[in-house]
Amino acid sequence: MPKRSRDAARRPIARTSGQSASAIDKTSLNAETAKTTDLALNTVEPGEAMSGNQGVKISDDQNSLKAGLRGPTLMEDFHLREKITHFDHERIPERVVHARGAAAHGVFQVYEDLSDLTMARLLTDPSQLTPVFVRFSTVAGSRGSTDCARDVRGFAVKFYTDEGIWDLVGNNMPVFFIQDAIKFPDLIHAVKPEPNNEIPQAASAHDTFWDFVSLTPESAHMLMWVMSDRALPRSFATMEGFGVHTFRLINDAGEARFVKFHWKPIKGVKSLVWDEAQKISGKDPDFHRRDLFESIERGDYPEWELGLQIVEEEDEFKFSFDLLDPTKIIPEELVPVRRVGKLTLNRNADNFFAETEQVAFHAGHVVPGIDFTNDPLLQGRLFSYIDTQLRRVGPNFAELPINRPLNPVYNNQRDAMARTVINKGRVSYFPNRLGGGCPMHSPEQEADAFVSYAETIDGAKIRTRSESFSDHFSQATQFWNSMSDWEQEHIAEAFAFELNQVESEEVRHHVMNELLVNIADALAEAVSAQTGIKIAPVGDPEHPTPSAPTASGPLRPEAKELSSPALSQDKPGDTIKGRKIAILGGDGVDAEQLKAVRDSLMAQEALGELIAAHAGTITDSAGKPQKVNRAAPNAPSVIYDAVVVLGGSSAEALTKSGSAIHFLNEAYRHGKPIAAIGDGSLLLDACSLGGAKVQDGVIVGEGANAIEGLIAALLQHRFPRRLIASVPA
Ligand code: HEM
Repeated sequence: MPKRSRDAARRPIARTSGQSASAIDKTSLNAETAKTTDLALNTVEPGEAMSGNQGVKISDDQNSLKAGLRGPTLMEDFHLREKITHFDHERIPERVVHARGAAAHGVFQVYEDLSDLTMARLLTDPSQLTPVFVRFSTVAGSRGSTDCARDVRGFAVKFYTDEGIWDLVGNNMPVFFIQDAIKFPDLIHAVKPEPNNEIPQAASAHDTFWDFVSLTPESAHMLMWVMSDRALPRSFATMEGFGVHTFRLINDAGEARFVKFHWKPIKGVKSLVWDEAQKISGKDPDFHRRDLFESIERGDYPEWELGLQIVEEEDEFKFSFDLLDPTKIIPEELVPVRRVGKLTLNRNADNFFAETEQVAFHAGHVVPGIDFTNDPLLQGRLFSYIDTQLRRVGPNFAELPINRPLNPVYNNQRDAMARTVINKGRVSYFPNRLGGGCPMHSPEQEADAFVSYAETIDGAKIRTRSESFSDHFSQATQFWNSMSDWEQEHIAEAFAFELNQVESEEVRHHVMNELLVNIADALAEAVSAQTGIKIAPVGDPEHPTPSAPTASGPLRPEAKELSSPALSQDKPGDTIKGRKIAILGGDGVDAEQLKAVRDSLMAQEALGELIAAHAGTITDSAGKPQKVNRAAPNAPSVIYDAVVVLGGSSAEALTKSGSAIHFLNEAYRHGKPIAAIGDGSLLLDACSLGGAKVQDGVIVGEGANAIEGLIAALLQHRFPRRLIASVPA
């Protein structure tokens, strides 16, 4: 590969193309705000005088034009027709997958010059802030479905670099269900609501999904992730992100290295529990998008560090798995994740449709210095995303404000539906003399022209999967082995929940005897106990299909010992920023305790919300009014991370409140920290908390001690080892 000069091509971020950019002053563009400035060309503040789309002012927008007071409406009413026809066309097709999403703007900044690894300028210039737009999504549900479904989360990042758009279209899980893109329509058809009755919405707990995966053993590893608490993030800000595939980084000298991309959340990886997630789905289906929006509005900006796992080309074959197989991770213990930069989301979109809905990601949008590998799932994605954008957003999707790059676009593509660029001149072809040969190719030596990595390929045309892709269970076992006791319990319960929704005994049998028994005996046994599905011995005449190992996956004996401790989320965090704490009180609540709790939480940038029987204000023990943040009926325990019960004369009243007792019992069942201050402990006594102890995250005390205990417990996030069998659900 030829060596390429970087300096020749350095350019400030600026828009000079014929796109609607004439108003931008190139020299004054600040990298951080460049995209905001660009979008401002298309943003409109609410105006004073109402007009139609042709600019004519409207005198009456509430009464249609009629023949007489009680007469029929006239065809002539151009305003009525324009208003209603526009409304009739408001929707575009929702995404076939990842339809439910929420997004925000932000910036990315690399910590140090990585030019030894890549020529991508966003990764080599630590002084440069690159604008980004990030969309998080669920996969299976439709646009109006719940945020808290058990599902994979999309984590798609659009970088508006000064060399063009780079889309890192990843997920919150580092592997995928299938190894080849040709199976994607089958996977999605299987997981989506069943086609005869469109049931169930946003759930994998149904026959067709488990039928498909039981016949697709390569899904075993991904199933472990989806059945784990990773599928139930507490918030987008507490999820990891992964590019999944192995990509390539290319430096100036043309040297290539393999890379896996990671996003490490600064707030740590935190999840909900399943019962909590299901209840939130009813109480607040917008739970994640609300959290993202509100945290940005109050200045609590979600942050992640970009991590790289680098593998030298000569080490391609040193692993027990194939780097091109998207059902495999590279354990962090084998190749550490180097944290190289920070992503900060600091601005909400102005308009959900124009930005979050119309944003069009494509795994094939890359910039010089980042390139693909032959991962057959990635290769199919390179086709699929552009195709789906053409259908969903239209052939000029790249011109839309949220999608257009900051640097100029000059080419001979023309016309098509809803074109906004007005290309001047008579030349729309290449080569040409009449246009002075423009736009022309950039010389290969220019660092900002994309040149594909010149990988040597020499192979027969075959529809065959490499033998190196055939170990489907080792990393599923590794995932299981890496979990703590309670994480394993949650995984087994999740499999059991899903399989208990499956009606077909045949499908249930095959999941058990072709997937679970090959992953871990303890998992198979726990699921068997909760589902009644029998573990069938190999050669069982009633079940002629082979049990372990499956036809497609020889088990490696050493897999039983594999473990990657980095995969467990059983680790205390170091911040409680943004966590939401319910403060239960009422008239006569202890004024000093209330102030102390609020001040301490505010000092930690956590949110304390006072909950009382009614909205408005209550009167504290000092006779002062205190604003109630939420009335009890609007404040279910599931939307909080912890609960504090305050003392004062309100404490006795709480013991008589069924909803307060339910609140505490439910918070306890969901493993949340509970603190009772002073007489607040009366409510604990009225509940059935099964001898709750401090080590279980239940703190009883006076003032400061109890608050400190609460904060320490919040750092633990949840106390999933509590005995909850006797606590009412
Ligand atoms: C590692 C595997 C994959 C990952 C990490 C992934 C990730 C994503 C993400 C994050 C989105 C949502 C983008 C947004 O927020 O707008 C998305 C959408 C989509 N994905 Fe994938 N995906 C994967 C595999 C595939 C495959 C194999 C195909 C097809 C062959 C595919 C087709 C699509 C389509 C059609 C959309 C909808 C795009 C749109 O309408 O905007 N994905 N994917």
